[in-house]
Formats: sequence, C-alpha cells, structure tokens
Amino acid sequence: MLEFSPGLEGVPVTKSKISYVDGQKGILEYRGIPIEVLAEKSNFVETGYLLLFGRLPRKEELEKFSQDLAKHRKIKYRLIDLIKCLPEHGHPMDAVQAAVAALGMFYPDKAVLDPQIQYLSAVRLIAKLPTIGAAYARLRYGDDCILPRNDLDHDSNFLYMLTGRVPDPFKAKALDTCLILHAEHTVNASTFSGMVTASTLADPYTVVASAIGTLRGILHGGAAEEAVEMLQEIGSVKNVRPYIEKRLAAKQRIMGLGHRIYKVKDPRAIILQQVARRLFEREGNSPLYEVALEVERVGEELLGYKGVHANVDFYSGILYNALGIETDLFTSIFAIARVVGWLAHWLEQLQDNRIFRPEQIYIGEHQKSYLPIDQR
Ligand SMILES: CC(C)(COP(=O)(O)OP(=O)(O)OC[C@H]1O[C@@H](n2cnc3c(N)ncnc32)[C@H](O)[C@@H]1OP(=O)(O)O)[C@@H](O)C(=O)NCCC(=O)NCCS
Repeated sequence: MLEFSPGLEGVPVTKSKISYVDGQKGILEYRGIPIEVLAEKSNFVETGYLLLFGRLPRKEELEKFSQDLAKHRKIKYRLIDLIKCLPEHGHPMDAVQAAVAALGMFYPDKAVLDPQIQYLSAVRLIAKLPTIGAAYARLRYGDDCILPRNDLDHDSNFLYMLTGRVPDPFKAKALDTCLILHAEHTVNASTFSGMVTASTLADPYTVVASAIGTLRGILHGGAAEEAVEMLQEIGSVKNVRPYIEKRLAAKQRIMGLGHRIYKVKDPRAIILQQVARRLFEREGNSPLYEVALEVERVGEELLGYKGVHANVDFYSGILYNALGIETDLFTSIFAIARVVGWLAHWLEQLQDNRIFRPEQIYIGEHQKSYLPIDQR
C-alpha cells in the first residue's frame, strides 16, 4: 500500500548540499554557513556565488562574477516592447514570469548540460530579473524604463532602475539583507516546481518561469504583499486584537505567520526585524512597524502554542514599504533573490538527473459503461 502524504510533507524528493533547515531549532544554513553570519558579513552577490558553486569565492572570482552580472543587466529592446504591451493592471509577477519565459527565446541554447552555458544562463537570469521587474514597474504607468547602470552594485542598481535615484547606502544594504535571506530555502514549493521542470531537461529560463509561477501564490511568496495589506487594513495598534480575533473566529489565516517547517520564529524574521528596527530608529517611527509588533505579540498569544510564529514575509514587506517600493512588487523582489536558489537546485538536479514522475493513489471507479449521450 502506498502511503499518501498531503503536500508531500516529510517525503524527501532529493539529496542536496545547498541549504539546511531545522524548523524546531530555527536554524537555516547556506552551504553550511548560518544565515546570521551571511546577513552580517556577506552580500547578495557573494552569497549567490556560494549557493551556486558550493563555496565562498576567492577575491578574483567574486570580482569576475560581479562584473559578469553587471555586464548582463541590460535586456533586449524587443523584450522591453513585449513588457510594454502587457496590461497595466496585471500583477507584476505575471509580467516577470512572461518576460522570463520570453527571455529564453533570445538565448535558445539547448545544451543545458554544458557548464559554460549553465554559467552564462545563470548570470543572465540573476542579472536580468531586476531589470525586468523594474521595467514593468515603470512601463505600466507609461513611464520610460531606466537603463541599468553597471557602476552600481546589484541592489543600488535595482532601486535606481525603480526610482531614477541612486539610493542611500543604508537602504541599499537593507534590501541586500532581504535578498540574502530570500535567496534559498531548501525544497520549498517554487524550488520543487523548478526542479520538476529541470528534470525534463527544459532550459533554465523555463525552469525559472515555472518557479516564478509557483512563488506567486499567497501561501508562498505572495504572503509579504498580503501581510502589508493586512497591517494597513488594521491601521493602528488598538485595532490589532479585535482584528485578529475576528479573523481567527472566521477561520481565516493571519498572513506572515506560520510556516510548514518552522515551529519557532523563522530565523530570517528575527534578522529582518532587527534590520527594520535599525531602519526606523534612523528614519523615524513607522506606524506599520508598530502595528506589526503588536500583531506578532497577539499572534504569539493566540497561535504560538500551535507552533505558528512570524515568518520571513512578515517583516520583509514592512522593509520594502519603507524603501518606497509599491506593495504589488514585493513578490517580484522575492523572485529576484530566489532565482539564485532555483538555479543552484537546477545545477544540482542536472548532476544526477532523473525525470520526476511521482505516484498517485487512484480513488476513482473502474470498468464503467459508456452511456450514449441521449441516455445520460
Ligand atoms: C505557511 C502555511 C501555508 C503553512 O501551512 P501548513 O504547514 O500546512 O500548516 P497547517 O495549515 O497545518 O497549520 C497548522 C495549524 O496552525 C494554524 N495556522 C497556520 N498558519 C496560520 C496562520 N497564518 N493564521 C492562523 N492560523 C494558522 C492552522 O489553522 C492549523 O490549525 P489547526 O491545527 O487548529 O487546524 C500557513 O502557516 C499559512 O497559511 N500562513 C499564512 C501565509 C504565509 O504567511 N505564508 C508565507 C510562508 S513563508
């Protein structure tokens, strides 16, 4: 008898060396290095190299990787035309997914097992995703998109392409920490989706487009947008408790709380909360942050006993909001970070590939008769 595990909970689907999570102790490591250390000492590009290639880069390797990323930021004008034609009221994640799928048509290399093509495709995807996200964010309002600058670092360039201004380094660093913390998280739904697509030997643009589609849902990457909308709807600290009680009584979820793996507070939420606190100490109080602290406090009281605590999406949205980023762009920023994890798993999958083909437990009928249409 096959045993069915809803959501594949507890079912290993791969062996991996990329990241490690312990949801009881609140541990997350990338290639064995705790995320707390990476958030403090590394940056997104270096962490990206670590995740993709299995070790920290030497100085010249990091320089080359950074330069390659900067060199590949531009996107073809035909892709800009395509993004321009997308409906302005669509969700940015759909635009990013469509553009990434189309990106593969510009680089139709079929040799996905060739290490040089693998490197170049990974660089292109990591470099161009921010350009695509920022392009749609502006083009949808009829504004021109802003060309990337290769003299700026990865985060500053993204914020520059969004706003036209070179950001304050403190804010760029806050975004960088968000990107590090969103870069990888073992076999989550979007990574698994990418791995399934990779197992068919589809090209990496298709792999990433599949993963983007899966990340979009509100139970996954979409939670940061929902969490900020919820905090805005609550409005003030005094409304928190009645709001949460009403929602729970109606069997609704509190967005940004709870996690399949973590039964303690998500270690990424702990770091992001510190980043948010530092940012608001510097920039002045944020009503949204005050509401969030109260939601977390009341959430602990009412849901903590079920192992439901703040997750990564709870504070990331508040930070993006403080950086002046529109709410519906949050999930695309998640994708801009997670593309590294998806690609690391793509490379690992290809080292020992077998097409995914799980089982089902059939619960339907057998040998039924075919009734002619006039007798049904
Ligand atoms: C992330 C999530 C999908 C994990 O789901 P899961 O592992 O299937 O957890 P379960 O649905 O089994 O939840 C276990 C219990 O906690 C409750 N719970 C979990 N998350 C909750 C939340 N956000 N709000 C209220 N209750 C929650 C469930 O209702 C369930 O209660 P019950 O045992 O009384 O029925 C879920 O916590 C959720 O929907 N969170 C909100 C969305 C979110 O923030 N997602 C981002 C994740 S990084």
